[in-house]
Amino acid sequence: MEKFIQNLPKAELHLHIEGTFEPELLFEIAQRNKISIPYKTVEELRKAYQFDCLQDFLDIYYQGASALQTEQDFYDLTFAYLQKCHTQNVRHTEIMFDPQTHTDRGIAFETVINGISRACEDAQKQFGITSFLIMSYLRHLSEEDCFKTLEQSIPFKHKIKAVGLDSSEKGNPPSKFQRVFEASAKEGYIPLAHAGEEGPAEYVWEALDLLKIKRIDHGNNALQDAELVKEIIKRDMALTVCPLSNKALKVQPDLTQHPLKKMMNLGLKVTVNSDDPAYFGGQVNKNYEEIQKALQLTKADLYQIARNSFEYSLLDSDTKNQYISELDQYYKMN
Ligand code: HPA
Ligand code: ZN
Repeated sequence: MEKFIQNLPKAELHLHIEGTFEPELLFEIAQRNKISIPYKTVEELRKAYQFDCLQDFLDIYYQGASALQTEQDFYDLTFAYLQKCHTQNVRHTEIMFDPQTHTDRGIAFETVINGISRACEDAQKQFGITSFLIMSYLRHLSEEDCFKTLEQSIPFKHKIKAVGLDSSEKGNPPSKFQRVFEASAKEGYIPLAHAGEEGPAEYVWEALDLLKIKRIDHGNNALQDAELVKEIIKRDMALTVCPLSNKALKVQPDLTQHPLKKMMNLGLKVTVNSDDPAYFGGQVNKNYEEIQKALQLTKADLYQIARNSFEYSLLDSDTKNQYISELDQYYKMN
């Protein structure tokens, strides 16, 4: 199975670039920027990656991201992730970035976007990987702050495919961002959002009805509401599920109890993703491997998940079909 997963052509649809910041690279970048971090060694930093909930993780994630200063830093971070994609047969990726994490500490929007997008262009040339960028708003900040970010993004609109909504979910419902999502859609950005990770099914309803999202990040708590499940199926929307993230943040501490297979049986379209691989113990293939073992998934299940990853990506239908025929070919031979 490990080999089948390793070579399976796939797309990653839920990935925060700041969450790919491995301790080794974090130390290297902090040193070259002469920034001190409150850990002496890579091992000590890795040991701090123990979380009881989403907020625990976010505190350390934002602290790590503050080492990023220059366009080259954002380039190095992104290119390191794309190299890992290449070795895992990730053929396409949709990368979230959190501009406010950087602009709020004085880094220019263009520094962030130019570093990330240049790495994406280079990876496409070198490895043939396609990618899109998703600009994610931080939901613990005000709507006004998000409008500022939207404004800053306009000169770089051609580099951004979609908007997302991440950070602390509880107490920050989608309704808080209805107007900024409306304005973002007017600019041509596709609306996406985290919903139902720690927040209730009600937040998933709001993300659907008020933010008009096209895909749900996580969505675990949608299962608490049968009507909502029906609605998600009716609207043909996918869930970007992140097993190792769910385990690390205690959304689902025991993977043998993870609802992924139940979601599939209900008719929901699921994909498997790494979310923040540097913090949650594994890249996308490790997520496939661990959930396969925990739930005894078959090759047919894994094929379906990989197929969903292309089908529910934001790619145009020609490119989707090319990837899917590559996948079909692989599945037939293996
Ligand atoms: N949830 C919410 N916000 C985030 C996450 C997540 O899993 N990862 C990075 N920011
Ligand atoms: Zn996420």
